[in-house]
Amino acid sequence: MKHFVTGLIAAAVLATGAQAQQKIVVGHALSPTSHYGVGAQAFIDTLTELSGGTFTGEQAPAGQLGGERDMIEGLQIGSLDLVITSTGPLGNFVPEIFALDLPFLFRDYDHARAVLDGEIGQELLAKIGENNLVGLAWSENGFRHITNSQRPVTTPADLDGLKLRTMENKVHMTAFSGMGAAPTPMAFPELFTALQQGVVDGQENPVTVITASKFWEVQKYVSLTGHVYSPAAVLASPILIDGLTEEQKGWFMEAAKASAAATRAEVNRLEEAGVALLRENGMEVITDIDKAPFAALAEASYSVYTDQYGTEMVDRIKAVE
Ligand code: PAF
Repeated sequence: MKHFVTGLIAAAVLATGAQAQQKIVVGHALSPTSHYGVGAQAFIDTLTELSGGTFTGEQAPAGQLGGERDMIEGLQIGSLDLVITSTGPLGNFVPEIFALDLPFLFRDYDHARAVLDGEIGQELLAKIGENNLVGLAWSENGFRHITNSQRPVTTPADLDGLKLRTMENKVHMTAFSGMGAAPTPMAFPELFTALQQGVVDGQENPVTVITASKFWEVQKYVSLTGHVYSPAAVLASPILIDGLTEEQKGWFMEAAKASAAATRAEVNRLEEAGVALLRENGMEVITDIDKAPFAALAEASYSVYTDQYGTEMVDRIKAVE
């Protein structure tokens, strides 16, 4: 029912005199002022400008249209136009994408962005295109860190038995089992209440998300583990894109690039300012973390990807300067 209603909104084509105007709905999981919100607005503004107003847009923020997995399904059946989503649930649709979710793979933001903006990123966008989705551009969520309500996490032993919400992603779940936590996959819209009610003790997300979601209201400790880089993708419905002219497709590509650039700029800003904000709001921030023992225990999760595809992609990613 939800998809049907949003489909009606997404497909709304308003006749305005001689020219038809089409409103594009951009779904995402976070607030309109978050890094995704900034990216969604950049998409809408760029598309509106390039198309001279033929296309307009509006955000459907904060998981209004469901969790990220629901929204991806919405794109496939054409009830949704456009989604900015982490890769969290994307591997369930395009298994090659699990390569990007491997823990401790990307060295830093420069490395991750070089991979996604280069040949590998293009190849993986093409794979998305083979699975009833259109991958327009790689955007960004950020390096993920662990928060919890129980104790400071500085070593894997501190994770022992901790009920930790993960994304619905088997690489991440295997990694956290290896590190000693009890991973509990859950869609993001359910997370705040689950933390509040103690259904789970903790979660892991980038500073961008921890601040946008005000997790300090329900979490005491944040450990800057940076255990995995979380890419985001700007995805469109093939049903929408197939109906466009070549010129219009070009506008969508340009708008997606502008969206990714705006989101990355916001990630950069929050990486600087966000940790101070966490402290100001009463979180204890643990910065002195030896990542090597976490990485050693998370290693087993690589086989989720390499058993199917071998190690070539992993080696190629590591080799990017
Ligand atoms: O934790 C998640 O599910 C994702 O990181 C989020 C917050 C939905 C952003 O893509």
